[in-house]
Amino acid sequence: MVCATYFICITMKAGTGRTSCSMPQIFRLLAILLAIVSFFLLSMLSSNDSWKINIHRGLRIDKGRVSKSRLRSKLFVNKEDEDLPEETFGKPIFGSDFIVFYNAIPKTGSRSLDSAILQNIATRTRRPLHFQLIPALAFENETLLKQFVALQKVPSFVRGHAMFSEFDSPSKVVYINVVRDPVERVISNYYFDLFGDDEAKATHAEENWPDTIDECIKLTSNKCYEAVRYYQAVTLRQFCGMDEKCGTVNRWTLQKAKKNAKRYTVIGLTSELGNTLKVIGMLMPDTFGGIYHQYILHQNVTKTLTKTNVKHKPKPETVKILRQQMLLQYEFYDFISRRFETLKTDLRLE
Ligand SMILES: *[C@@H]1O[C@H](CO)[C@@H](O)[C@H](O)[C@H]1NC(C)=O
Ligand SMILES: *[C@@H]1O[C@H](CO)[C@@H](O)[C@H](O)[C@H]1NC(C)=O
Repeated sequence: MVCATYFICITMKAGTGRTSCSMPQIFRLLAILLAIVSFFLLSMLSSNDSWKINIHRGLRIDKGRVSKSRLRSKLFVNKEDEDLPEETFGKPIFGSDFIVFYNAIPKTGSRSLDSAILQNIATRTRRPLHFQLIPALAFENETLLKQFVALQKVPSFVRGHAMFSEFDSPSKVVYINVVRDPVERVISNYYFDLFGDDEAKATHAEENWPDTIDECIKLTSNKCYEAVRYYQAVTLRQFCGMDEKCGTVNRWTLQKAKKNAKRYTVIGLTSELGNTLKVIGMLMPDTFGGIYHQYILHQNVTKTLTKTNVKHKPKPETVKILRQQMLLQYEFYDFISRRFETLKTDLRLE
């Protein structure tokens, strides 16, 4: 820097016939240069954040393991995010002094994930996780849910179709979840409730629902149609949380769901359950290392048990109608998918 300044000084003086630069002159010029550089840096920081790349999430992998070093720097925190809880998405967690909160979305492969977790627990002798089902009464009752989580031993894994909640439990709570293509999820939910599978009984078999979702979405007066509208709202609702307003799909719900998504350590994809488990194993190596292996070993059995009994291929127009009704849900799904892709790249998966 000093050399560069000296050079600039000499060049400036060349026109005046004098060729030497005194030290005070050099320092004055140096100060001006520094001021200009700082000004540019500061204006970059306070303008939009599109240039931020992935520095804040720079995970480094050494020989297949996640190293603890992170490149996060105070400089790169967005002003608007300052009062939000720290983003935890994709950050590794070592040890096992925590409670994993898995507020599973129905029909996203959650039982396959559960069975991989259970198999993994069975193979570990040191500090096994306590696997607990969240009581259905607590799914939408924040007081009950918080009480339930506060009572858990550490480490534990709690799962159920609960709404998102910020916990003030004395133990650290780690959030995980999985999302699925919105239309696929709705269709799967329809046939699951109508016909069940080898593990679960059908819940709406007696209610005169049409045998196919194609017929159902034409019968807006039938109860089945209400059910379809309900299924469409489920994912956003669970990510949005306990607020009554979370039951309606709108931009506010979407924003809240996206904001809460940043509190999760992993949100995987049903279409990539294997990679989802790999990511879970890599980000929580002391608790879930080896879980992908367990999934592969037992995949066979789980798939058979949890395969919905009858599933008709939907007509293209059915898919089109459902898709048009679910644009906000796709916005959320795409948001999550992009983050998962980036996370996989950071972890050098694929
Ligand atoms: C939640 O459950 C508690 C205990 O059963 C009950 O007193 C309370 O009214 C419930 N809250 C809501 C919002 O249902
Ligand atoms: C899957 O399960 C079936 C029946 O239990 C068994 O015959 C088959 O070999 C298994 N396949 C794999 C790849 O484990």
